[in-house]
Amino acid sequence: LKVLFAASEAYPLIKTGGLADVAYGLPRALHVEGTDVRLLLPGYYDLLGKLKDLHSLGSLQVQGAGRVHQVYLLEGYHEAFPFPVWVVECAALFGRSGNPYMHPDGYDWPDNAERFTVFSRTAALLADDALNLNWRPEVVHAHDWQTGLIPALLETVQPRPRSVFTIHNLAYGGHFSHAIYDQLQLAWHWWSSEGVEFYGGFSMLKAGIAYADSVTTVSPTYAKEICTPEFGYGLDGFLRSRSYKLQGILNGIDTEIWNPRSDEYLVQNYGVRDVRKGKLANKQALLERFGQNPTAEQLARPLLGMVSRLVEQKGVDMVMESIHPLLAETDAAFVLIGSGHYHYERALCDLAAHYPGRVMVYIGYNEALAHLLEAGCDIFLMPSRFEPCGLNQMYSLNYGSLPVVYHTGGLADTVINASDENIAADTANGFVFYQPFSQALLGTLWWVLRLFTQEPKLWRALQRNALKAQFDWKQSAQRYLELYRNN
Ligand code: ADP
Ligand code: GLC
Repeated sequence: LKVLFAASEAYPLIKTGGLADVAYGLPRALHVEGTDVRLLLPGYYDLLGKLKDLHSLGSLQVQGAGRVHQVYLLEGYHEAFPFPVWVVECAALFGRSGNPYMHPDGYDWPDNAERFTVFSRTAALLADDALNLNWRPEVVHAHDWQTGLIPALLETVQPRPRSVFTIHNLAYGGHFSHAIYDQLQLAWHWWSSEGVEFYGGFSMLKAGIAYADSVTTVSPTYAKEICTPEFGYGLDGFLRSRSYKLQGILNGIDTEIWNPRSDEYLVQNYGVRDVRKGKLANKQALLERFGQNPTAEQLARPLLGMVSRLVEQKGVDMVMESIHPLLAETDAAFVLIGSGHYHYERALCDLAAHYPGRVMVYIGYNEALAHLLEAGCDIFLMPSRFEPCGLNQMYSLNYGSLPVVYHTGGLADTVINASDENIAADTANGFVFYQPFSQALLGTLWWVLRLFTQEPKLWRALQRNALKAQFDWKQSAQRYLELYRNN
């Protein structure tokens, strides 16, 4: 089965969030299942330098906004991928370094509509083997708004490949104006409430939902949530009317990279048997990394951790509201790694300055430190208001750092609350709160900290269950394959 997998980011080439992890893990798992995959990415400046044997397979003329671009299809290799990586090179649109969607000053690139329309058009041309490569995909799998136009653009491809569109986050709709639609010369017959039109402009995400043969999202609970007004961003009605082709498939995680038994970023590897010792060594290293020199007594204190994009979705504000009473009345400490909105970054740095040694904050993106934090903290905070899937709660389960989550999306599908029933059934692996308010989070945290200090045996049992959880890609890849084969 030939699959063209089109995404706007993929670990380890370019990453802003979980989409990159999926565009790494899923195609690799599909390859293992015997699929002939090509990963298609935009040729961002930083990405080109990471590929080996980069060579051109040909060039295409692709319509942009009021101008035509000459686009090169490059093929390259990277040890992370056991198949060729295809890159859409067009220096005018993608030859910029840093964040793929934003200017270094934090605003969206003003030509994003054009950039991702050209990317999507190139994908559709390749699906039609426009470069005579003798490689025609039977399935095109597109992800998020950046590739939402692909299913629509495939309408002229003969034979038309099956299209699958995956929503990783409905909050990012790819909304642009009618004027831009005109400039891009997109087809007039898509402009309707049944097509791309959205409140007078158009939505690239909606195009994907409207024209793909199958629409998926990244957890079963989120698939239901987005059909309600609370989570639907104005698309809930549209999604309800397409529910016949919508389903949730839980993401996997890469169990080679995120595995405490072999993780190279840890100062000590560990598994179920030596989880206590292993975590303690990493906790010490983590605290030292933040300039502390912890005594044995300090090491025994509960350490809360968080790794997150600093945006409203992630509930950072709820954490900041809960932290004062928590620090005042317990001996817990808190470590956070994250970057995002300036006002959160600023407030978190203020908090760290106010509580030296108790609140430690690293602003920025740091892969190595994220691994050490997952291993070194005792409790992982992920109070997202909504979470399509979420990867960090799965990482922390695998590292025996018990997650505290709000009951939503993929968090609800992966974290099993330490309720009396679940404890009795020996299935509990973390803590869930049920109202998206800081009081509810705080109430749960009191309980969590009490268990941590007073019920060590129960804590170990929860950790054992957490470490047992299986989230590898194999199962999800098989679900996608069924979809690809139209079963
Ligand atoms: P989202 O994609 O919404 O940000 P996910 O939980 O799906 O949320 O994925 C986030 C990914 O990005 C994880 O792999 C996480 O470890 C990583 N990540 C987020 N922020 C940072 C950071 N500041 N440093 C290192 N890794 C980060
Ligand atoms: C998005 C979502 C996140 C999900 C990731 C990968 O970034 O916010 O919940 O895990 O995509 O699917």
